[in-house]
Amino acid sequence: MDLFDYTPTGKINQKHLLTLKDYSREEIYEILHLAIKLKKEYKQGITHDILKGKTLAMIFAKPSTRTRVSFFMAMKQLGGDSLFLSTNDIQLGKSETIEDTAKVISRMGLSGIMIRTFLQSDVEALANHGSIPVVNGLTDDYHPCQALADILTLYEHKGKISGQKIAYLGDGNNVAHSLMIICSKLGVKFAAVCPKGYEPNAKITDYCKSIGGDIIVTDNIDEGVKDSDVLYTDVFFSMGQEITSEKRTALMPYQLNMEIYKKAKEGCITMHCLPAHRGEEVTEDILDGPMSVVFDEAENRLHAQKAVLALLLKNA
Ligand code: CP
Ligand code: NVA
Repeated sequence: MDLFDYTPTGKINQKHLLTLKDYSREEIYEILHLAIKLKKEYKQGITHDILKGKTLAMIFAKPSTRTRVSFFMAMKQLGGDSLFLSTNDIQLGKSETIEDTAKVISRMGLSGIMIRTFLQSDVEALANHGSIPVVNGLTDDYHPCQALADILTLYEHKGKISGQKIAYLGDGNNVAHSLMIICSKLGVKFAAVCPKGYEPNAKITDYCKSIGGDIIVTDNIDEGVKDSDVLYTDVFFSMGQEITSEKRTALMPYQLNMEIYKKAKEGCITMHCLPAHRGEEVTEDILDGPMSVVFDEAENRLHAQKAVLALLLKNA
């Protein structure tokens, strides 16, 4: 069953968005259907007040451009408000526990929390100790909002989701993990093409295989990239990671460049969650070339997150 074989109900049975692991294929389709509808209506100038009276707290312990702007605009375009909280300025993580913070901000009339931080366990603690929906805006392990926007972008460019093949080149990081999870849920083949020592977390790979994901993890570029509809890459050094010459040397052969692009299927598109480092994990001719859909991906953060927020916060 592909996206448009599914008839949306306008509901999902979820309180939070933490990893996407507990979301069914149908629930992901609900988000994508609503994202497509809201995007179309937004372009037609149709306005909404689905989240009138709702406020989203946005906690950032790491920097951001796309996540911060897209969540802010998503709330605004749905008639709600948002509150930006930097961990440089609030007590969280310094003189107050995540549990106490969760309890306090749940009692202030907020409708949801979006958090970008280091530990996935902190996001889970916020969800477990507070009473309002929590959305993961990136941790060291996952980036589920990015994965939703990426699959929306894949659908827009290829007209289908299931049966496509994405090869992810480089560091097996948070972005790779969430992409591998969503691909496993939606019947997209996923190849993690990574040098030894930089593969995705084996537990997450095993989880994806256990739910029927068509996953390969390989350090062989030819094998991984062959027949790919999408080539994806991300930075060598994620926020908070140590920058070492060993890692750069190991990852450099996996740079997404024209030589590698030529090994993929004809008409292959290239993706990157951004921010990108031209000349490091990706070359300029790939990032700025006709095969690149990176700015569609960035824009789709807005549309996918509007759908997530509408579904999770509507009744919160
Ligand atoms: N892709 C992404 O999450 O970008 P930001 O770090 O700018 O939010
Ligand atoms: N893997 C990157 C993604 C940034 C959006 C990081 O965590 O820094």
